[in-house]
Amino acid sequence: MKLTNTLFTVAVAALSLTACGTKNTNADLEIENKVEALLGKMTLEEKLGQMNQLSPWDFNELAGKVRKGEVGSILNYTDSALVNKIQRVAVEESRLGIPLLVSRDVIHGYKTIFPIPLGQAATFNPQIVERGARIAAVEASADGIRWTFAPMIDISRDPRWGRIAESCGEDPYLTSVMGTAMIKGFQGSSLNSPTSMAACAKHFVAYGASEGGKDYNSTFVPERVLRNVYLPPFKAAVDAGCATFMTSFNDNDGVPGTANKFVLKDILRDEWKFDGMVVTDWASAAEMINHGFCADGKDAAEKSVNAGVDMDMVSETFIKNLKRSLEENVVSMQAIDNAVRNILRLKFRMGLFDNPYIATPQRVKYAEEHLKAAKEAVEQSVILLKNSNGTLPLTDNVRTIAVVGPMADAPYEQLGTWVFDGEKEHTVTPLKAIKEMYGDKVNVIFEPALAYSRDKDRSGIVKAVSAARRADAVIVFVGEESILSGEAHSLANLDLQGAQSELIKSLSAVGKPLVTVVMAGRQLTIGKEVEASDAVLYSFHPGTMGGPAIADILFGKVNPSAKTPVTFPRMTGQLPMYYAHNNTGRPANPTEMLIDEIPVEAGQTSVGCRSFYLDAGDTPLFPFGYGLSYTTFEYSNLKLASDMLTVGGELLVTVDLKNTGRYDGVEVVQLYIQDKIGSVTRPVKELKAFRRVALKAGESTVVSFSLLVSELAFWGYDMTYGVEPGDFRLWVGTSSAEGLSADFTVAAR
Ligand code: BGC
Repeated sequence: MKLTNTLFTVAVAALSLTACGTKNTNADLEIENKVEALLGKMTLEEKLGQMNQLSPWDFNELAGKVRKGEVGSILNYTDSALVNKIQRVAVEESRLGIPLLVSRDVIHGYKTIFPIPLGQAATFNPQIVERGARIAAVEASADGIRWTFAPMIDISRDPRWGRIAESCGEDPYLTSVMGTAMIKGFQGSSLNSPTSMAACAKHFVAYGASEGGKDYNSTFVPERVLRNVYLPPFKAAVDAGCATFMTSFNDNDGVPGTANKFVLKDILRDEWKFDGMVVTDWASAAEMINHGFCADGKDAAEKSVNAGVDMDMVSETFIKNLKRSLEENVVSMQAIDNAVRNILRLKFRMGLFDNPYIATPQRVKYAEEHLKAAKEAVEQSVILLKNSNGTLPLTDNVRTIAVVGPMADAPYEQLGTWVFDGEKEHTVTPLKAIKEMYGDKVNVIFEPALAYSRDKDRSGIVKAVSAARRADAVIVFVGEESILSGEAHSLANLDLQGAQSELIKSLSAVGKPLVTVVMAGRQLTIGKEVEASDAVLYSFHPGTMGGPAIADILFGKVNPSAKTPVTFPRMTGQLPMYYAHNNTGRPANPTEMLIDEIPVEAGQTSVGCRSFYLDAGDTPLFPFGYGLSYTTFEYSNLKLASDMLTVGGELLVTVDLKNTGRYDGVEVVQLYIQDKIGSVTRPVKELKAFRRVALKAGESTVVSFSLLVSELAFWGYDMTYGVEPGDFRLWVGTSSAEGLSADFTVAAR
């Protein structure tokens, strides 16, 4: 056991210097001066107006409020002419001419829809994710949208929760990397560029831990787990200069996100020095009344502002109540001024005072290079889960294919959740792409069999089976309609909906090579279907360009390289399931699954007293970080430059990687560590680094990683952040479940 007095606290003070938080440039000082000057001219009503965000339907009603200075921001205006019109009212007709912040949920694309964020995380490629966010910003800002409510960086370990689709999955490190990439893409090189959108890190905090995976449900995340698991992506967001944060709907240990002073003030402002802006989630201030946490709107406004919230999304509790709260001294003028400062600072940083209007709308939507980038993102996000006997890629011997299933030609459904603005008319489905791109190579027989994913009408299956008999190979597209995942779309059963499973079973019985492609908003429990198929591709909801990318993968023009950003459970009852769990005192024997082996009237000891499910064992269907390629990779010769390190040191790791197969390919090389003994129990493995490595068939290379020992720090027993000296294990490999390993020690001195 390591002693806590050997703890080395690493740079907590240094952590507090953030991109947003350093006010030492001339431009920053200039902005601060402008903020103070403007604040000095504002009436209380105008201040409360800035803190008010509305989602208006009636233009005239809105214009009246804007003219009186009662609105700081609007959401859901997407017509550039209308945006300019309302902005003109703010700038030219309100007393102080403060421009509006125009916002929208631009989550995985605006018009050109990229894979859902969970699919983007599967690329393990921050560059491609950043590019997707940049494109979204270029398209959305052309309509006047300068603030998006993304990235959603809630650690999500339970796919029953529909919002897992919007997340980057279960891992704090992967989510931090991907969230940072999205922020960089949305915000571009400077917030005041007309094509930049302010990003919004959401939902602060622990929303992904909703009990039972049921949306909006309570969470129970203690401070240490909060700090070690749920907060790191948000800290990374601050470091990346994320302009805004959004509170969360859930109450964590009894405190609703919108009134959680501990995270909103003590951590976000005081520890992390965030000087951006914090908005509530939709009506979440007023909803604290439903929580039984606030007596009325006034109480809700007070608790929100006193906790450090700046802007009220749509509930109007701030504007209606804070004047009275101020008179009663329940809220201070200083608290209101601070909130308004944060809002004005953002507006100045975004250059809205100098350039409030959108220039002539450019023709950027669905631009050719945007579609190309979206296709590339799908190519890298489709996970090859199974490929028996080299079923994929399809060979020249395959002359006729049966394309089957409700998702084969469902342009709206492949877009996924949060696509207010993507249009199905621009979507290319797999059926269309296969016909257009490979129609000269193969005959295509199309039989959807089911009209949509939940369809229980089995009558079409007969025709699909007949098509399969006439084909050399069968590609079946199954999954979930868009509406089955996303906000408020939790599911208790993660099996394929409707008669999809029976469809696969019937097709499998035909005996032709069967390729199953799953388009879904979450990882589903597809064990039976994987078993029944020769090859399985998991594309999540791939967006506008899903079809062409999947077609190129099926026919071998593109070799899959994606990896699972979440653990795939065998059964829903295993949830929550994630690779970076702590060990119990009675760890499972991973292969054990005893339900059919236990003798009748067996004594208690025969079932082993280990931590596992009798009927599901303790292994997932697919582990985190898993994904095949058409080629094979061999890892060898793992070396550490030194196996004895100091707390201030650096771990240098190399491994040889060889492409041992017949295809050029890309492998995501992953590095995991385990802190063997901690002052508190530590995860059995934690991802610390990864790298996409491209190798031609037969080629080898040396892959190297350097990891600062300080990156092994965590919040320990006495709630200090630091590296605990002692013994560590490291793995480098192809997934969280495989890898070459080596041990090293961090010395106390
Ligand atoms: C969601 C947020 C979203 C907001 C605005 C809420 O219901 O939880 O994620 O940004 O609506 O549309």
